[in-house]
Amino acid sequence: MKNNCSTSTPQLITVRDRQTPLTPELLDYIEETFTAEDSFLSDVVDASWYMEGIPQINITGWQGNFLQFLVKSINAKNILEIGTLAGYSAITMARAAGDNAHILTIEKERLHYKYALERIAQAGLSDKIEVVNANAREWVKNYKPLQPLDMIFLDADKSGYWQYVQRLTPHLRSGGLLIMDNAFAFGFLLDTAPERSPELAKSMLGFHKKLLGMAEYFTTIVPIGDGMLLSRKT
Ligand code: DHB
Ligand code: MG
Repeated sequence: MKNNCSTSTPQLITVRDRQTPLTPELLDYIEETFTAEDSFLSDVVDASWYMEGIPQINITGWQGNFLQFLVKSINAKNILEIGTLAGYSAITMARAAGDNAHILTIEKERLHYKYALERIAQAGLSDKIEVVNANAREWVKNYKPLQPLDMIFLDADKSGYWQYVQRLTPHLRSGGLLIMDNAFAFGFLLDTAPERSPELAKSMLGFHKKLLGMAEYFTTIVPIGDGMLLSRKT
């Protein structure tokens, strides 16, 4: 049986044709519908920006929802985060991790650290989230968890990611997840003349390759926010 198109050469459908572009409308819908952000978290971000001048570079509500999905998927309890900022993601993950969760989060900036501590207390999560005011690059050198980690979330200085991965991988349990934000290098990943952080765009590309080359991990990437890398330890 011939179909109507048989007279012309069938065109191969490209990958681009099969990818639905994330239009602003679609993104707004998703961020409104699949979000971890409630009025408290929304206030955490707004006040951090307006009252303290803390940069508004936290993960989005949809990214928070995604992190919560991952936490619940592997029943993560022992979580390490590099880069606390205002505490938004730590609070988000702690809420999903539930009872007996321990989120250890490292923050270099004193102002961010103090703000996060305050908001975590307000959230009633001081018993679950431990904030450390330290430069993570130095801190990781002496870090030894009491128990293997279930999950690691990297969202600090991007040029330090490879060092963090090397130092922290031995502490992640088998089946544990390593999650990294800003895999698209603030949107400049493939830009030949990025207007911001050209060395970052290049080093992030190299970081993708190094991660894919690690036998310990199965790695994927998701176009959520500024891109997230996900590696599962074998
Ligand atoms: C920046 C850092 C982030 O982690 C992010 O998600 C977006 C921007 C920054 O340093 O500008
Ligand atoms: Mg980030």
